[in-house]
Amino acid sequence: MNIFAVVCFILHTGALGFLQVQWLPCKLNDEYVWKNDKGQTEIESIYRDAVLHFGNLRDSSLYPDTITFLVAASKVDMRKYVEGPVDQLQCEISRYSKGLSRVRWPSLGGTEHDVWFTCTLRHIAGLFNVTSYLRVTPATTMSPHQPDIHSWITLGDNEKLSASAVMVVLTRTPSVWVGLLKQQTLHCQFAVDHKTSHLTVEWYLMKHGQQTRLYSYSSSSGQTEGSGVAVDGIARGNASLTLPLTEMSSEGTYLCSVRVPPLNGSVTIALHVMESPQVSLTIEQGSFPRVWCEAMGYYPLDVEIELFKETSSGEHPKKLKNVIHRSHTKHKNGTFSLPAFVRLQPSPLEPGCGVYSCRVKHVSLQGLYIYKSITEPGCLTWINLILPGMMGVFVVIIIFIAVTKRRCLSICKRGTR
Ligand SMILES: *[C@@H]1O[C@H](CO)[C@@H](O)[C@H](O)[C@H]1NC(C)=O
Ligand SMILES: *[C@@H]1O[C@H](CO)[C@@H](O)[C@H](O)[C@H]1NC(C)=O
Ligand SMILES: *[C@@H]1O[C@H](CO)[C@@H](O)[C@H](O)[C@H]1NC(C)=O
Ligand SMILES: *[C@@H]1O[C@H](CO)[C@@H](O)[C@H](O)[C@H]1NC(C)=O
Repeated sequence: MNIFAVVCFILHTGALGFLQVQWLPCKLNDEYVWKNDKGQTEIESIYRDAVLHFGNLRDSSLYPDTITFLVAASKVDMRKYVEGPVDQLQCEISRYSKGLSRVRWPSLGGTEHDVWFTCTLRHIAGLFNVTSYLRVTPATTMSPHQPDIHSWITLGDNEKLSASAVMVVLTRTPSVWVGLLKQQTLHCQFAVDHKTSHLTVEWYLMKHGQQTRLYSYSSSSGQTEGSGVAVDGIARGNASLTLPLTEMSSEGTYLCSVRVPPLNGSVTIALHVMESPQVSLTIEQGSFPRVWCEAMGYYPLDVEIELFKETSSGEHPKKLKNVIHRSHTKHKNGTFSLPAFVRLQPSPLEPGCGVYSCRVKHVSLQGLYIYKSITEPGCLTWINLILPGMMGVFVVIIIFIAVTKRRCLSICKRGTR
């Protein structure tokens, strides 16, 4: 697809309501499947340009040289769930394998030889991930004994496919950063083009290569296991999961699975725990005077502590070398603390007046940092001297005024007698 078409498209639709979008540029993640001479299946995937065109076959195609998916109007319109300017959207189309299953999609026109694709619309800043399941025609003929990947249809460079979206699964929380002991809901929503009695909703937590089932609901048996999803919401397509108060162990990838045979729909949500550090800056006196800066109660582990000193007042603080980091401590709640120190360095001009500061950077602070500063105790700077001096003068003036006023009053009173 050429750049002119993209620009033209953006000008056409801009940041407008998505119901008007006529087409979207996409990447097609295409797969070539073959059996090698040992009889093993090999798959190679290649990205190709494609276009998602909302309309039907009769529409004159604007892009003769591109693979086009003509998405006919259906009860499930993926455009309903996306928002924001078009240039913030990424569209990816992939082949969908239903394996050996030859279950017919129950809504109008489904056959056991249907060919499926998925189309994921993803917001680049992570506002949502919407995956729709597209049934395309023409269907192919699939062997009942082989997975459908062996009968993939071949797509020419200007192939036009009629597609209809029959199911959509989306999340508005594709990536979550949350503190400890917080209430967090993971958003998962779906829509299916017909009323189904064979719906399964499940949630899994995947971490360290293991998959734990947290919740399951089956509409055919009416049974639920686990908690966190409101069953009455499922009928309206709400499969959101409310987690127990977050702990370190809540971290991981969550999978919201919505199955309507033969489709296994899902979205994944990455949950990261994050706690900002508390920072303390102290001066330890004694035989080995030191300045301590400690970052406490933070997560994840990486933190940066820097110490600075103003050599003479008003001067730009200089970053100190020779900062010594103790080893970090891991607390029971999974957070870390890291103390660092530097030897107190005498200031030749103003003894005892060093101003030290500490700057702590951590991923939870989103590019900002925590900054604290401290003056050596017992420092007699001009501010320390002049300020009390000025206060003294001020008090004397107040007393003077009060006394004069009182005297005046007694004189005046005498005058009226
Ligand atoms: C869909 O999910 C079911 C149940 O977990 C599984 O048996 C089946 O293999 C899955 N199908 C595909 C194509 O992933
Ligand atoms: C969203 O969907 C895309 C495409 O399927 C996937 O690669 C990605 O991991 C998903 N999640 C996020 C947070 O983008
Ligand atoms: C979906 O269900 C959750 C509870 O599981 C609820 O907190 C949330 O508000 C519901 N969302 C909508 C859009 O109804
Ligand atoms: C975790 O534990 C540390 C040390 O006990 C404490 O300072 C910090 O506040 C705790 N963090 C949370 C979020 O409870």
